[in-house]
Amino acid sequence: MSELLVVEDLTVTFPTTRGPVDVVKGVSFTVGRDETVGIVGESGSGKSMTSLAIMGLLPRGATTGGSVRLDGVELLGAADRDLRRLRGDQMSMVFQDPLSSLNPYYTVGLQIDEVYRAHRGRSRRAAREVAIKALEQVGLPDAGRRVDHYPHQFSGGQRQRIMIAMALVCSPALLIADEPTTALDVTVQAQILRLLADLRQQTGTGMIFITHDLAVISSIATRVLVMRAGEPVEYGTAEQVFAEPRHDYTRMLLESIPRIDDEVTT
Ligand SMILES: Nc1ncnc2c1ncn2[C@@H]1O[C@H](COP(=O)(O)OP(=O)(O)OP(=O)(O)O)[C@@H](O)[C@H]1O
Ligand SMILES: [Mg+2]
Repeated sequence: MSELLVVEDLTVTFPTTRGPVDVVKGVSFTVGRDETVGIVGESGSGKSMTSLAIMGLLPRGATTGGSVRLDGVELLGAADRDLRRLRGDQMSMVFQDPLSSLNPYYTVGLQIDEVYRAHRGRSRRAAREVAIKALEQVGLPDAGRRVDHYPHQFSGGQRQRIMIAMALVCSPALLIADEPTTALDVTVQAQILRLLADLRQQTGTGMIFITHDLAVISSIATRVLVMRAGEPVEYGTAEQVFAEPRHDYTRMLLESIPRIDDEVTT
């Protein structure tokens, strides 16, 4: 079976007063239909620009090169209308900060409904049932009542669950999670990671998981792409990258992971 997503030699360029600047420089990777691929790199390495390029959501002015094919369909240069149809349906993204992506003036149920009805064109009643199911699926207690609550009535971890419910409501083939746990405390981070891993297994959604923390990747990804300053520095299976990193930069990231058998020096 062919790969779900094929990214080939992707570049993202911004015009600046000092001329064009490449923030993604020739990135290639693939995501299988039943796979989680991790993208790791320090702040500013181009992880978000890579995912926004895939989603067709780059800031105005940015230009792209190379190729991004979802299920064989070229996304770079595709018409806005076609991309809008694919987003939320065939591909979804969970952003780092759920508060900035949830509308404070609408109940979470209505916001999930909106995604569902935009793509499935079903009645409000049917959509409400789907929203409640989606909230149950991400482990939100008392979903039948909570569906009518507003974003500010939830904790950070709960809001991230709601974002995941919204992203998965149309059962997309591809889910991009861009640092979905960085704003959360460690215990909640672990819960969200487990949830994403479980959901991926149940739904068979292919996933791209973005983080600057290599330790997080080790528990969830089958393949890993390491980026630095827009460049792909290393790409391979998780075992390969962890066991024998080929690049100094990856080694440095690995060394910064605190290990359970590290000596305590305090
Ligand atoms: N509108 C813009 N115009 C020019 N350059 C930009 C613009 N937006 C982002 N950049 C640059 O693109 C580069 C890559 O940014 P990106 O957001 O992809 O990094 P990241 O790896 O996601 O970092 P983080 O871990 O902090 O989220 C950065 O150097 C940033 O300064
Ligand atoms: Mg980012």
